[in-house]
Amino acid sequence: MEVERGRERIGHVNRVGYMKKVIKKRKHTRKIKQVEQVVPVALQDLFVSCQDVFKGPGTVPAPQDVHKLCTIIDNMKPEDVGLSSELQFFQPTNMLCIFFIPATGVIPLHNHPEMTVFSKLLLGTMHIKSYDLVDPVNLEGSEPSSQRLAKLKADRVFEAPCDTSVLYPKTGGNIHAFTAITPCAVLDVMGPPYSKEDGRDCSYYKDYPYTNTASNGETEVTIEDSDSYGWLEEIEMPENSQMDGIEYLGPQIIDPRC
Ligand SMILES: [Fe+2]
Repeated sequence: MEVERGRERIGHVNRVGYMKKVIKKRKHTRKIKQVEQVVPVALQDLFVSCQDVFKGPGTVPAPQDVHKLCTIIDNMKPEDVGLSSELQFFQPTNMLCIFFIPATGVIPLHNHPEMTVFSKLLLGTMHIKSYDLVDPVNLEGSEPSSQRLAKLKADRVFEAPCDTSVLYPKTGGNIHAFTAITPCAVLDVMGPPYSKEDGRDCSYYKDYPYTNTASNGETEVTIEDSDSYGWLEEIEMPENSQMDGIEYLGPQIIDPRC
């Protein structure tokens, strides 16, 4: 039955040009047996550990749980999720996602409300810029500004393979943007996942260089290290941003709860 399901997937895979090499090997070689036995273990281990760690909305993993997930993700390789350079995007579960971004592609500044997110650049070279909101800003005697002060947490190029990075609801660079320098693949582990119904929809932002007042002049904040701050303004999702989803066709996960 599993074989038949596999064949069905292969048909679909060929249509989108994904995993052709692995499929050929599956038919004959011993190497593929290793792939079938070993590859799912890392992903399965990650999936089961996520179920164990993320107990639902409001969960921020304890340090030992963060360490546990980082250790698993640090050791994951593109092959562990059946990745090929032709893959566009897939979503194994709503907690585990893999994004493929073509060279020069941008995922604009966006937030992760009440979420803890583990990210690992599996393939490629990518510029990452991230901020944390500075909260609360001293707004005594002034109207709330449409721009919010944010501290710059990262603004540099990452090259795969690199260690797992972790962002938290209020720290670690919760608002970030990805700009692919070469074609990139990023594994994201998100807990809890985005949910419009539960008030965890994704918001988008535009950043402005730090000055001692926001550009609309409503907020005054004095900070010595101006290079490490910026102003963030919430915007509609940029019209030229488009993300397509495709069926996950990599190693299969078994949900032990089912
Ligand atoms: Fe993100």
